[in-house]
Amino acid sequence: MTSRALREAFHREYMTFFERAERTRRWNLFEDVPWDRLDEVPRDDRLALCAETFCGVEMFLPDYLREHLSLLAGDYGQAWFAANWGYEEAKHSLVLREYLRRTGQRTEDQLHDYAEQILGRRWRAPHDDPRRMTAYLALQELTTFVIYRKQRELARRTGDPVLAEVYRFIARDEMAHSRFYQRVLALHLDDDRAGTLADLAHVVRTFRMPAEDLLPDYDDRVTVMRTAGVDARVFFTEVVLPLLAALGLSRGDLFRVPAETARTGVVLPARAGAVAPTEG
Ligand SMILES: [Fe+2]
Ligand SMILES: [Fe+2]
Repeated sequence: MTSRALREAFHREYMTFFERAERTRRWNLFEDVPWDRLDEVPRDDRLALCAETFCGVEMFLPDYLREHLSLLAGDYGQAWFAANWGYEEAKHSLVLREYLRRTGQRTEDQLHDYAEQILGRRWRAPHDDPRRMTAYLALQELTTFVIYRKQRELARRTGDPVLAEVYRFIARDEMAHSRFYQRVLALHLDDDRAGTLADLAHVVRTFRMPAEDLLPDYDDRVTVMRTAGVDARVFFTEVVLPLLAALGLSRGDLFRVPAETARTGVVLPARAGAVAPTEG
């Protein structure tokens, strides 16, 4: 359990996050997406498969929420963040689902089958410690932002104005989520620098994106997911280094930490083509 002072600081961070979200970041699935431009949407199997894959990753939301809330019992600010975060994440899978359905790239039946397959599986948190999970989530949300930003660019180049806008809304949310976890991590660093650095180093060394390997037809998806363009190098330069910079840390701060629990000592995900998933 964290100290009362830390929990109060988390609450203040949550209020800042929530106020910004309410004032500047809310978007409406039914009114803000340019659904009136569906006739301009090209048929692109790769884009559709990626949208379906990300929709699937977002659909493990009940597991994400369950695991978050069980770790955060007694922490008011973080638990309320989790509830608000869950609302925002719920829209991510819904808007991707609506995109696939309204463009006719998937039928209602296919989407229900997909949901049933996904909800029949269980995602488990990769860490059972709240501070490690905070570090994990800061990295994971930022990786997700990078993926959606790249997908948005791809959709724009392919001439799909609807999907490009869908990804713009989602990416903006993911960045806000990552910033919140960065702020919480910064508070942890102030509270216990050595311990927090050790946790962050461990999480960077063992990082995997959640749930992708739990999706149906995972092997087919991996190939297509490479269009998302997040390999080990991108993870390091576009996720790890910016996170360190935001925290006022250097890579030296991180990698001076002894690899007490690292399995491999390797900093980056093993899979060359995509950020490798969890083992489940
Ligand atoms: Fe999301
Ligand atoms: Fe997110």
